Amino acid sequence: MSAVGPATGAGALLSGVDRVGIAFLGCGYASDFYGATLPNYPHLLVKGAFDPRRERAETFVDEYGGRVYEDFAAVLADPGVSVVVNLTPVTDHYRTTKAALLAGKHVYSEKPLASDLDEARELVELAEERGLLLSSAPSTVFSQSAQTLLKAVEDGLVGRPLLVHAALDMGALAFMSYDHWRSKRGVPWPYEDEVRNGCVMEHAGYQLSWLVAMFGPVKRMTGHTATLLSQEWAGLDRGEVAPDVSLGFLEFASGAVCRISIGWVAPRDQSLVVIGDRGTLSVADVWQASCPVVLRRRVPTSGKDHEYLGEPVELPFVVPPTPHHYDDTHDLTVGAGVSDLALALLEGREPFLSAAYSLHVLDVSLRLASGRGVSEEVPIRHGGDVKLSRGLLEPAGAPRGLVPVAREGGR
Ligand SMILES: NC(=O)c1ccc[n+]([C@@H]2O[C@H](COP(=O)([O-])OP(=O)(O)OC[C@H]3O[C@@H](n4cnc5c(N)ncnc54)[C@H](O)[C@@H]3O)[C@@H](O)[C@H]2O)c1
Repeated sequence: MSAVGPATGAGALLSGVDRVGIAFLGCGYASDFYGATLPNYPHLLVKGAFDPRRERAETFVDEYGGRVYEDFAAVLADPGVSVVVNLTPVTDHYRTTKAALLAGKHVYSEKPLASDLDEARELVELAEERGLLLSSAPSTVFSQSAQTLLKAVEDGLVGRPLLVHAALDMGALAFMSYDHWRSKRGVPWPYEDEVRNGCVMEHAGYQLSWLVAMFGPVKRMTGHTATLLSQEWAGLDRGEVAPDVSLGFLEFASGAVCRISIGWVAPRDQSLVVIGDRGTLSVADVWQASCPVVLRRRVPTSGKDHEYLGEPVELPFVVPPTPHHYDDTHDLTVGAGVSDLALALLEGREPFLSAAYSLHVLDVSLRLASGRGVSEEVPIRHGGDVKLSRGLLEPAGAPRGLVPVAREGGR
C-alpha cells in the first residue's frame, strides 16, 4: 500500500477557485442519492452529466442542475470540470476512471474502485503519477454515527478494543419485490448487476471502511462464501449469481479482531459492536447516518452474575447532521466523499478516502469475496449423506418428527 502524501498538483489546478466543478458519469439508480444531498455542499458546482441513456442525463440535470453532455469525450474536454463522479456500473469503473485520469480529471468513484485488484492498483498509480486525486465510496464513514463511534474508540471509552462484531445482512433480497424498486426519478434498481457482483463487492465496504478507519489495515484474514439462493432471481441463470453469504474473520493492525457477516439471505442485521476490555460501543444500523451510538461500560459484578455491562448510554454526536438527505430506507451520507475530495483539492491535501485507503478496502473485499478461507474435509464414518442422530424425539403414537405438546389440564 502506498503512503498517503500531500496532493501535489491538486492545489495548483484549483488555485484561486472556491467552488469545484463536478460532472456525473452515469445517471442511474444511485445518482439520485447523490443529487439529493448536493445542497449540503455549496463548494460543489454541478457542471452537468452524461449517460448513454440520454433521457436519464436529462432528468438528472432537470432535477439537480448543470447541462447534458453529448458524450464522455465532451465531459473530459470541459475545462470547468475538475472532478468526475463515476456512477457507472461496476464493470465500467476501471475503463471510465482510467480515461478520466488520463484526461487530467480527479475522480470520485462509486464502489468498488475496480472489479479487479490489478486494475485498481493501476488506477491508483496513474493518479499518483499525475498528481490527481482518486477516492472511492462508500463515504458512510463521514456520518454522525461513524464519526461519533470513531471518536469514542479513540478516546478509549471502551478501553482496549478486543473484538468487533460487524454485519451487513440486509434481509433475503430474493424474496422481496426487488424488480419494482425505483429511484426518485423512476430508475429501476439494477438487480441483475447487483446479484452478479455479489453481496461482498456491493456491501462489504460499508463495514470495512469504518473498521479500517478505527483499527488500521487488515493484516491477516480468512473468509468463506456460499451461494444459497441462486435459483430465485428473475431472468438470471444460476451460474450468474455470485455468493450471497460471506463470513470473515479479520485481524487488524491495532490487534483487534472482527467477525464479519455480509449477505442478502439472513434477516436484516446491519450492526457494528466494538467490544473492549472496559465495555462495548454499538451502532444498530451503519446504513443510517444518524443511528445512535450506544455505550455500555463494564461494571463490577458479584456472585454468579453474567451481566457485567452497565445501562446503555447514548453518546452525543460529535458532528452536526447534514440537512439534505435522500428520502429512502437508508441514509448513506452519499455526497460527503465527493465533498471531501473537492475540499482536499481546494486545500491541497489528501482526501480522507484516499486512494491507498480505498485500495485497501477493495483488497479486503476481494479476498472476502473469493472465500478462500481454510477449507478442510471432515471425515464422517458412515458417509456424509445420513444424519448421525435421529434428531427429533419420537414418542410412541406421535406422527414422525412431531413431539406432542402437553395441553393445559392434559397429562
Ligand atoms: N443501486 C444502489 O442501491 C447503489 C447504492 C450505492 C451505490 N451504488 C453504486 O453506484 C454505481 C452505479 O449503480 P446504479 O445502481 O446507479 O446502476 P444503474 O445501472 O442504475 O446506473 C448506471 C448508469 O450508468 C450508465 N452508464 C453505463 N456506461 C456508462 C458510461 N460509459 N458513461 C456514462 N454512463 C454510463 C447506464 O446507462 C446507467 O444509467 C455502482 O458502482 C453501484 O455499486 C449503487
